[in-house]
Amino acid sequence: MTSSPTARYSRITGTGSYLPPKRLSNSQLAEQLAADGVETSDEWIVARTGIHARHFAEPDVPCSDLAVAAARRAIEAAGLQPADIDLIIVATSTPDMVFPSTACIVQRKLGIAGSAAFDVQAVCSGFVYGLTIADAMVRTGGARRALVIGAEVFSRILDFKDRTTCVLFGDGAGAVVLEASDTPGILATELHADGKHADILCTPGTVSGGLVTGDPFLKMDGQAVFKLAVGVLEDVARSVLEKAGRTEADIDWLVPHQANIRIMHGTAKKLKLSLDKLIVTVDEHGNTSAASIPLALDTAVRAGTIKPGDTVMLEGVGGGFTWGAVLLDL
Ligand code: UT7
Repeated sequence: MTSSPTARYSRITGTGSYLPPKRLSNSQLAEQLAADGVETSDEWIVARTGIHARHFAEPDVPCSDLAVAAARRAIEAAGLQPADIDLIIVATSTPDMVFPSTACIVQRKLGIAGSAAFDVQAVCSGFVYGLTIADAMVRTGGARRALVIGAEVFSRILDFKDRTTCVLFGDGAGAVVLEASDTPGILATELHADGKHADILCTPGTVSGGLVTGDPFLKMDGQAVFKLAVGVLEDVARSVLEKAGRTEADIDWLVPHQANIRIMHGTAKKLKLSLDKLIVTVDEHGNTSAASIPLALDTAVRAGTIKPGDTVMLEGVGGGFTWGAVLLDL
């Protein structure tokens, strides 16, 4: 990493995302689970979570492939070439290997070398963590054109005999290019963690060759996570708004972590935001952990819903326990 002239701000100049082609509706998943004696239904999943479908990567497709596909789209949207990128941060809890980082593998697959590249592990808050780090590095001259990616293959760590978790998650990737800028961009960021809640959402095994060994499955105390999430998402949103000198009324779009429509509605209501301002992709993507926020952002940008100049609040929450928010002008 070389030092660049400092910029006052960083700004998102391109977004991209990728979903593996295999889409499973709730009914299709319920049918597969029933063959193993696991009972669930489309009605239960929709009523409790808002999820209608999720995408699963084929078993031989690693996290880095999803990340690269999203990254290429973000780089293209920014009008850049891979060689222009001088920092790569990948947020993931389902990396290709223990090491090297998925970011280094992404760098190689993009056909570039020399830029700094590392992974961030903050589970479902990972993208907000990565974006906050990239913003700091760009503003202090450590990078000028950063690629921040959230990418996951959570299907690899799901226990398909545990109906309380396996119906919730999906695979995918989202990415942004963050560039040095004289005009704002990112207005304020804030990150938090409280490790005493580590056990309520965890996967105790270790990853090697894209497979988890040891106890390989995600465990979650759904209700405990739910209660914590609703509280911290309100607090961190208010705190970031205050830092930026803005109010709830300035938010054009809320792009929260896509885990459960009930948590998302609860957060919007607490912030007194109309549900029209809430970007929702959990219905079609399920919970894609670190990928969910950039996937939702890119989906809304490409649909023309979020437009240049709009003020957007990104909010992450998840295992660790971790949470954080980024307020930005697109
Ligand atoms: O990404 C990181 C952040 N993660 C989250 O934000 C997840 C937060 N938690 C949640 O979203 C919710 O707690 C869940 C969706 C996981 C569960 O919803 P809930 O309303 O808290 O349901 P519950 O755990 O209280 O379960 C209600 C009932 C139970 O049956 P009984 O005990 O009432 O007879 C469960 O056994 O629903 C049953 N159940 C199911 N039934 C059909 C649990 N999973 C299923 C299922 N299909 N898949």
